[in-house]
Amino acid sequence: MPPRANLFDFHGVSMVHYFTDNWEKIQNFKARPDDILIATYPKAGTTWASYILDLLYFSHKQPDRQTSAPIHERVPFLEIQIPCFPTGTELADSLETSPRLIKTHLPVQLVPKSFWEQNCRVVYVARNAKDNAVSYFHFDRMNHAHPEPGDWNGYLQRFIEGKMVFGSWYDHVTGWWERKQSHPNIHYMFFEDMVEDTGREINKLCSFLGTTSTADEKEQIRAMSQFDNMKKDDMANYSTVPIMDFKISPFMRKGKVGDWKNHFTVAQSEEFDEDYKKKMKNTTLQFRTEV
Ligand code: A3P
Repeated sequence: MPPRANLFDFHGVSMVHYFTDNWEKIQNFKARPDDILIATYPKAGTTWASYILDLLYFSHKQPDRQTSAPIHERVPFLEIQIPCFPTGTELADSLETSPRLIKTHLPVQLVPKSFWEQNCRVVYVARNAKDNAVSYFHFDRMNHAHPEPGDWNGYLQRFIEGKMVFGSWYDHVTGWWERKQSHPNIHYMFFEDMVEDTGREINKLCSFLGTTSTADEKEQIRAMSQFDNMKKDDMANYSTVPIMDFKISPFMRKGKVGDWKNHFTVAQSEEFDEDYKKKMKNTTLQFRTEV
């Protein structure tokens, strides 16, 4: 396991060095026009969206792809640099597929400029703040690249203050939302919509991407990407990743909307909501905390 890292301020965003050590190569990364960037705040449904996109593009062309390589190799994590592993930029550079699917958790202002110059398509997934915070708490407990989360109450306070790896949830989701308003190549999705009706969201994705999947193929992808199936798929559930301790918490944990109710006290929820209203008062972005 790598040593747990400390948070520090990086261009106004809280980060750990595992995602900034390779910064020069990240900033100079050469995107290709057909690259598809999957952008999220951590724990918003990145792996789920990556899995669906990978199936949409490659399940018919490379039938053994999904069983032969873990999702983090098929969809490289752009900014990661962990000792003894290829960096995200190296993995992305070595991909010969078209399109390349590339994952990032960077806030919109830190995305390498080449993605915008090449007019790449971006699939952004957002998740309501309360469930996102809960999921992130359990992830930070088991992910040794991130700082120790401590207890839930202290963690929640830091979430509110934006002192999380990749910074403030509020800035992240609103930053990408504002960019989407002037950028037709960003498809903004919600985790809650995916839980409510995965098939409908796959249809919307296909319209955005212009893919020609048949109704049967889409139905197959919907079924394959259901939580129980992905949870038992070792190529998608991160069980091969040595920085995560599955004895503490699984990566595919619950996959639900509304688990926040099992974690927030009434007082925590009220305080959170009050602060939320202030932080989100200038945006048209709306979330559902239950479906
Ligand atoms: P929980 O911790 O709430 O269970 P990311 O991939 O961005 O790290 O997000 C991980 C979260 O997405 C976890 O949430 C995980 O269980 C959930 N998830 C992953 N695949 C899913 C699926 N097919 N259906 C529902 N939730 C899924």
